[in-house]
Amino acid sequence: MRQRKLKVWSEEDYFNWVRRETPLKEKYFAMYSTVWDAIVTNPNLMTIPFDDHMVHRGDGVFDNSLVVNGKVYLLDEHLDRIIRSATAIGIKIPLDKESMRQIILETIAVTGKRDCMARFWISRGTGGFSVYPDESPIGHFYLIITSSPSYPARYYEEGLNVVTSPFPLRQPFTPQVKSCNYLSNAMMEFFAHNVGADTAIAIDSEGNITEGSNKNVAVVTKDGFFKYPPLEKVLHGTMLKRAIYFAKILKDEGILKDVVSANIPISEAYNSAEMMFFSTTLVVAPIVKYDGVTIGDGKPGPIYKKIREMFKKDMTENDEVLTPVDYD
Ligand SMILES: Cc1ncc(COP(=O)(O)O)c(C=O)c1O
Repeated sequence: MRQRKLKVWSEEDYFNWVRRETPLKEKYFAMYSTVWDAIVTNPNLMTIPFDDHMVHRGDGVFDNSLVVNGKVYLLDEHLDRIIRSATAIGIKIPLDKESMRQIILETIAVTGKRDCMARFWISRGTGGFSVYPDESPIGHFYLIITSSPSYPARYYEEGLNVVTSPFPLRQPFTPQVKSCNYLSNAMMEFFAHNVGADTAIAIDSEGNITEGSNKNVAVVTKDGFFKYPPLEKVLHGTMLKRAIYFAKILKDEGILKDVVSANIPISEAYNSAEMMFFSTTLVVAPIVKYDGVTIGDGKPGPIYKKIREMFKKDMTENDEVLTPVDYD
C-alpha cells in the first residue's frame, strides 16, 4: 500500500485542535452566524462554510461599526448600507434590519467589551463551488466582534504620507456596493507599502482623486473650501458624510467658505491647504505628504483638528447617533 504523508484526522483529532489555546482570543471575542443561529466565543470555532460563495468567489458584502464606551456609533447607517449593498447585487438577505440590529447588540453584550468593533457580512450563501448565484437559495449573515482597530499615533499627530495608486479601484457595478472583492484595494496597500508610503489614493480615468483602499478623502483648499469627490464615484462613507455635516457647521461659524462636492484633479490636491482621510476604523487622519509633495505646511491643519474634536464629541456624547448595548 502507498505510504501516506498526510495525516487523516479523526473527529477527536479535530476537536482537540479546536480546543487548543489560541492567542486570537485576545482580539476576536465572539461570532454569530445564521448557519448556526448561535454565538460562539472560541476563535477556533469562528468559521464559515467553504461552499459559501463569499469564500470562493468573493460574492458577498460587508460593513463595520465601531463600539465606543458601550455604544455603537452610526449603527443605523451601517445597517442601511449593507442592506443597500446586498440588495444591489440581488443577494437574498436572510434577516431583516431589526433582527440584524438585535443580533449585533446581543453579540456585543456577550463579549462584555465596551470598546470594540462589530464587523458583519451578508454572503451569497452556501450551495456549491460554481460562480452561479442561483446555487445559493439564501444568503448568510456573519458577525464577528473584534478588538478596536488601532493605528500608529503618528498618523494623527504627524499625518500620513500617501501616494497615487497605479491600480484603478475597479468596482464591478457601482462603488456603492461594499463588496468583498477588495483585490484592487489590497494591491493599493501593497504598492504603497512597497514604496515606503503609509497608504495610497486611487484616481479616476481623468486623473481626479477618488478614495483610499478603505477610506474616503477630502481636501481643504487654500481659499477655505471643504471639497470632496462626487459621491457617485466613491463609496458613500459614513464618516465622510458625518464630516460633511461637521464641515457645514464650520461654514455656518464662518471658519470654512463652503462645502462642495467636485472633481479634485491631483494637481489641485497637491496645492491644497489640508487633505484628510475618513473611515470607520481611522475616523479622521491628516495627509501631510502626497506623491512627495508637502501638503499645506506639512503638519496636521486646523480644520482637521476641529473635525477630529467634533468626531470625538459625536462618538461619545451624541445619543442621536449612538445605540447603547444592554450588557446586563
Ligand atoms: C473603498 C472604501 N472607501 C471608503 C470607506 C470609508 O467608509 P466608512 O466611513 O463608512 O468606514 C471604506 C470603508 O471600508 C472603503 O472600503
